[in-house]
Amino acid sequence: MSVIPLEQWPDRLSAAVIRAAAGGGPFRRAVVLREVDSTQDAALRLNAAPGDVIAAWEQTRGRGRLGRAWSSGARGAAPAQASDGDAPPGVAVTFVLAPERSERLALLAGIAAAEAVEAHLGRPVGVKWPNDVIVDGRKIAGVLVEQDRVLARVGIGINVRQRDWPADLRAIAISLSQAGACVDRLVVMETLISALWRCWMATNDVLKEAFRRRDLLTGARAVLRHDGREYEGLIIGIDPMTGLTIETAKGRQVLPAATTSVVQVQADGFTRA
Ligand code: BTN
Repeated sequence: MSVIPLEQWPDRLSAAVIRAAAGGGPFRRAVVLREVDSTQDAALRLNAAPGDVIAAWEQTRGRGRLGRAWSSGARGAAPAQASDGDAPPGVAVTFVLAPERSERLALLAGIAAAEAVEAHLGRPVGVKWPNDVIVDGRKIAGVLVEQDRVLARVGIGINVRQRDWPADLRAIAISLSQAGACVDRLVVMETLISALWRCWMATNDVLKEAFRRRDLLTGARAVLRHDGREYEGLIIGIDPMTGLTIETAKGRQVLPAATTSVVQVQADGFTRA
């Protein structure tokens, strides 16, 4: 499959943004960058405004949640396909939105990423709370929400054309192409823009139901961290807008979604948070 060149990105992404805006979506402008450290930081440097969609052909220092790095899989990984030249394999895009409740932004972005992946894969995917998109037990997309009083920066990374991974990621990461969907990154971004527009317009109840259908954490044993303390037990319910209920040896606890993180999951397929 040949790669759609960077020159086509500005027009195609602008058209996707205009379609979304015409349908009531929150986007106004697409900004395409050839190489950035992180699209999250580029949004700040560019003084981005709500409605901007910042897409990078190549991201060299992507960030993940909880201070982790987000690797596009390029470093140390085999080239995607000989005919593809050396185009990077992942989607890295930051949607700049007006600030709102962080639980809702995390939820809507995770569902949008899941829907975009499903559209190309043709089968349902799982979501590991809060918003890791999981295919065949491995992570295919992740979401980073950062916001202040003025701007929300919703960063989404999707693995698209990776054929291999550095050793430390091999057991836990997967791409669309590894899962059987050979698709161009630009096409995935177009799908993501419409998915995010739909999810942004959806009510919390619709989003919670979309999460419930894909929820992989409920029913698993896990270690959660909240307020400096760790809680180990069985996750018995998740309301992504409010909290997680965990049955521990000392009893049942409800931990707030906004300030709780997953330390470890003991379930088939993925064991690292
Ligand atoms: C995670 O799963 O921990 C979140 C990963 C988020 C990665 C995306 S890629 C676009 C945006 N820019 C970044 O530096 N991070 C996010």
